[in-house]
Amino acid sequence: MNVTFVEFGKPQTGTLVLGAFDGAALTPAAKAADKATKGLLKKAIEANGRFTGASGQSLMLLAPAGLTAQRLLLVGLGKPAEFSAAKAEAIGGSVISQLLTSGEKQVLFAIDGLPEETLPAGELEARIALGARLRAYRFDQYRTKLKKEERPSLQKVMVASSDIAVARKAWRPLDDLADAVSFTRDLVSEPANVLYPEEFARRAKALEKLGVEVEILGEKEMQKLGMGALLGVGQGSARESQLVVMRWNGASDKEAQPIAFVGKGVCFDTGGISLKPGDGMWDMKWDMAGAGAVTGAMHVLAARKARCNVVGVLGLVENMPDGKAQRPGDIVTSMSGQTIEVWNTDAEGRLVLADAVYYTADRFKPKFIVDLATLTGAIMIALGGEYAGLFADNEDLASNLLVAAKAEGEELWRMPLNDNYNKLIDSSAADMKNITGGREAGSAVGAHFIGRFTKGVPWAHLDIAGMAWSKKAKATVPEGATGYGVRILNRLVSDFYEA
Ligand code: BES
Ligand code: MN
Ligand code: ZN
Repeated sequence: MNVTFVEFGKPQTGTLVLGAFDGAALTPAAKAADKATKGLLKKAIEANGRFTGASGQSLMLLAPAGLTAQRLLLVGLGKPAEFSAAKAEAIGGSVISQLLTSGEKQVLFAIDGLPEETLPAGELEARIALGARLRAYRFDQYRTKLKKEERPSLQKVMVASSDIAVARKAWRPLDDLADAVSFTRDLVSEPANVLYPEEFARRAKALEKLGVEVEILGEKEMQKLGMGALLGVGQGSARESQLVVMRWNGASDKEAQPIAFVGKGVCFDTGGISLKPGDGMWDMKWDMAGAGAVTGAMHVLAARKARCNVVGVLGLVENMPDGKAQRPGDIVTSMSGQTIEVWNTDAEGRLVLADAVYYTADRFKPKFIVDLATLTGAIMIALGGEYAGLFADNEDLASNLLVAAKAEGEELWRMPLNDNYNKLIDSSAADMKNITGGREAGSAVGAHFIGRFTKGVPWAHLDIAGMAWSKKAKATVPEGATGYGVRILNRLVSDFYEA
């Protein structure tokens, strides 16, 4: 889908999107259209009876006489003082959801009349375009029998701007962001027979074209490093486990201390010998969404040439039951030297992250580490699909993440770490066990386990199990893979760590 910026008032065919504020007050562009159609908009509002201009509302008018457009779509903007970038995105997204497969080929957003101080110049236009692109995402390459009317018809999105050059400039990094989120959604959507660890690593390797340095470690190299925790998870799989190290050195000093993101990349999680029930197991193809988000973040940072040194590390495995699979009760030695009694082979994400996080801390000595993982079902019980859980041992990092998450509409909620939770994973047979044996504080216990492998580097853990996949579309997120986390990490860098 192609986005362009055009002048206000240039006649276009297709759908013309206009705005009305609370009280059904038409914006200047909408007033002009009302005049050109001899009062059609006002009449339609009256005939509809319920359109008040509240945000989220819309009113479609077909074949308006007096305009070149074939349809008018009047959208509610709410109160001018309450307008925001998020609302602009939501308008872009919800209009696209109405038009994408409607038969319409092009749309022009002509939203004006906002008080100047509402948003920085160009931001309104760029955010509408971002919402449009994010909502237009589809993963349908395996649908060979889609009928013509089920396929997207919309090809061209235009956004009217009073300063096209400024709008384009604001759009450039957001266009990169939309590319990256789509890239992550593709990774998360792919089934596990297609996207296994080596294939994931190949797709990460493709970031080299953006200037990211990518190294891939196979099982032999990981054995040499002593990564017994990660390797134990993959040991029942016919697919080789991989560790991917991506580096974007965008700071003026390429040697400056980096920041680091680490992702759980379990390409499929059957549970292993502690096998999951069959019902719903298909969801476990997206148990690599943490790694997907980290890869997408590296994509956008490199594409927009972020002035920061960033390391992205992915622990990629497949968790399978097999004659060679690890057993409950097995004791593995992690790269850190700490031993782990594997009570439950389905608590595998923390085992993968134990080695991936330790490796990152040990090799790069970063300013901080943020790990992202679809780690626990318990976080979905606590927070549902509204927030990811944030666990952090550093106040500045936690607060920066919360600010970034809020700004991007990828909500995060701080959860507690506590020594008493940590003690629950002490083991009498090894240095620790990977579960407590009980159900209490399941997400915090998982976090504490990972926290034992940070080597003292300031650290935050995002449990995104409830956010990686959406069963219901939201304004800028279609059903399916969300790409959650890419926007937070990108904003974290741009707002706090770019020179
Ligand atoms: N990948 C799952 C967590 C998960 C569940 C993510 C549902 C997304 C949707 C993880 O590896 C897992 O199996 N966790 C167990 C941990 C338990 C054995 C301590 C869980 O949450 O049940
Ligand atoms: Mn599991
Ligand atoms: Zn898992």
